[in-house]
Amino acid sequence: MQSSENEYLTIALPKGKLFPLAVDLFREAGISADGLTDSSRKLVITNEAQKVKFIISKTADVPTYVEYGAADIGIIGKDVLVESGQDVYELLDLGFGKCHLMMAVPKDKKRDKLTDYTHTRVATKFPHIAEKFFNEHGMQMEYIKLNGSIELGPIVGLSESIVDIVETGTTLKENNLEEIVHIMDASARLVANRVSFRLKFDRIYSLTEKMKQILTERAEGNK
Ligand code: PRP
Repeated sequence: MQSSENEYLTIALPKGKLFPLAVDLFREAGISADGLTDSSRKLVITNEAQKVKFIISKTADVPTYVEYGAADIGIIGKDVLVESGQDVYELLDLGFGKCHLMMAVPKDKKRDKLTDYTHTRVATKFPHIAEKFFNEHGMQMEYIKLNGSIELGPIVGLSESIVDIVETGTTLKENNLEEIVHIMDASARLVANRVSFRLKFDRIYSLTEKMKQILTERAEGNK
C-alpha cells in the first residue's frame, strides 16, 4: 500500500555551501537517506523507513518550496530568506554558514562617503535587501541583478559597487574591492511551512529540540 504524502516529512535543502553542513546536522539528529551527497543529481531522495523526503533545490528556491508547502521544513541562509520575502516560520538559528551582507567598491575608486554613490549602479544578487538599505539612507540607485560572481560587476565597468555576501573576505581581496558598509549578518536557519508546523507539530518540534541540543553540545565542545 502506498503511504500518503502527509506521512512524510519533506525537507528542502539548498545546493551549495550549506548542503554538507545541513546533511551533517540532520544525520546527527538521526535523519538521513542513502545517496544524500553533494554530487548526486537526484532531486528527491527518500528514506521510506523514516518517512522522510529530502528535496535538493537551488539555494534561492528553498523559501519558495517551504512557503507553498511543497516542503514542510528547510534549511536556508538568513540572507536568502530575507531577500525572498517568503512567509515561512523561522524555527532556529543554526549558527553555521555565517556571513554578512555588505556594500563594496573598487579600492582605487573609493568615494568619500556612502551618499556619494547615489544614482550609481550597484550589482547584486540581493536587490530587495539592497533597495531597502539604500532607501533608508535616502539614496536612489540603479540595481543590476546578477546571479553569481557579483564581484565582476565593478571590474568590468558594469557597476560602481556591489552588494553581496562576505564570508572569509578572500573574494573581495583578490578582486581589489573594499567593504565600505556592513548591511546585515546572516547564518543558516531552520524554517517551516506555517501549516506543516501545526499539522506535523510533534515531528517538527522534536526535531527542532534535538537540533538545539546538538548545537549546544557543539558550542560546549568548542569552548
Ligand atoms: C559567495 C559570494 C562571494 C563569495 C564570498 O559566492 O557571492 O562571491 O561567496 O566568500 P568569501 O568572502 O569567503 O570569499 P559563492 O561562492 O556562493 O558563488 P557565486 O559568486 O556564484 O554566488
